[in-house]
Amino acid sequence: MNKMQKALALGSVAAMALMGTAATLSADEDADLVINGDLEMIVRTEAPDHLDGHLDMIYSGWTFRSDETQAMQMDDFDNPAMLFVEQGIEIFNTAMGTEGNSCATCHETPENLSEVRAVYPQWDEERGEVQTITMQINECVTERMGAEALGWSSRDMVNLEALIASVGRGNVVNVAIDGPARETWEMGREIYYTEYGILEMSCATCHEQNYGNYIRADHLSQGQINGFPTYRLKNARLNSTHSRFRGCIRDTRAETFAEGSPEFIALELYVASRGNGLTVEGPSVRN
Ligand code: HEC
Ligand code: HEC
Repeated sequence: MNKMQKALALGSVAAMALMGTAATLSADEDADLVINGDLEMIVRTEAPDHLDGHLDMIYSGWTFRSDETQAMQMDDFDNPAMLFVEQGIEIFNTAMGTEGNSCATCHETPENLSEVRAVYPQWDEERGEVQTITMQINECVTERMGAEALGWSSRDMVNLEALIASVGRGNVVNVAIDGPARETWEMGREIYYTEYGILEMSCATCHEQNYGNYIRADHLSQGQINGFPTYRLKNARLNSTHSRFRGCIRDTRAETFAEGSPEFIALELYVASRGNGLTVEGPSVRN
């Protein structure tokens, strides 16, 4: 498909033209994000070197949201996702499994895990594979607590991830893409640029070539994941990274990969690395 056909296809799936003029919904793209009046976020910065020839600048999805949605993330009292962080704290302190341990038994406080969110997914030497935070939590749950693995996007898992993100807010995303993680990263990149579905669209079609444009009333972002998990006004709950990937692929009318599949783990590493230089913002608010 050429560019025009693609734009038309995009319009048909969206039931409206790609470049609608949703002026009233328009975001303040130049706004700065300071949370609770003192936690300064990097919502725009130079793209990491590996994106040379693709993007000059990277932007947090926050910059594309409406003024109202932006405001909700600026204060923890207005951020509905913080209720789930509270629930995450409860789980953190509750013993489960045959060992009688809670997360707190070993990690003491969530703040001890504040460095985690910015550097995951990460190569795990012992296991010889790239691990996402979800996998790392389940390693602790099954091997150190003697409990059943939590479902990939289960409420408890996503709440724990929101908690770990929240204590890591403000740290600069710095996911390693060299060394033993390289092969997985390259697989993720391949998936990112593969055109799927009858509409023949890749992640890049929307999030690299068309960010800033409108699809339906939705202002297309770069599809960054520094804000995950995200509270979506649309479904009024916290959403995991992989459930968002699934939704996006489904919108192109393609068969999607499963949450927790090797493909999505690789894609998560790759997409995370496209945000190297932004700050951890989760749990964020999106529409
Ligand atoms: C019995 C002790 C123990 C319990 C209980 C435990 N963990 Fe861990 N956790 C560890 C150890 C040890 C490591 C380091 C493992 C490694 O480096 O591979 C770790 C690593 C982690 C990491 C990655 C840290 C990093 O710097 O990369 C996260 C995140 C984590 N645990 C979350 C949790 C959560 C959430 C729970 C509760 C559901 C939990 N853990 C329960 C012992 C525990
Ligand atoms: C047909 C266009 C389209 C395609 C193709 C597409 N997306 Fe999206 N995506 C959207 C729209 C619309 C949104 C909601 C507005 C926004 O944040 O861009 C979105 C949102 C996202 C978000 C949430 C961003 C945030 O800040 O919360 C992520 C992450 C994402 N997409 C990743 C992907 C990935 C990875 C792929 C490829 C597997 C992909 N998308 C393919 C249209 C698309």
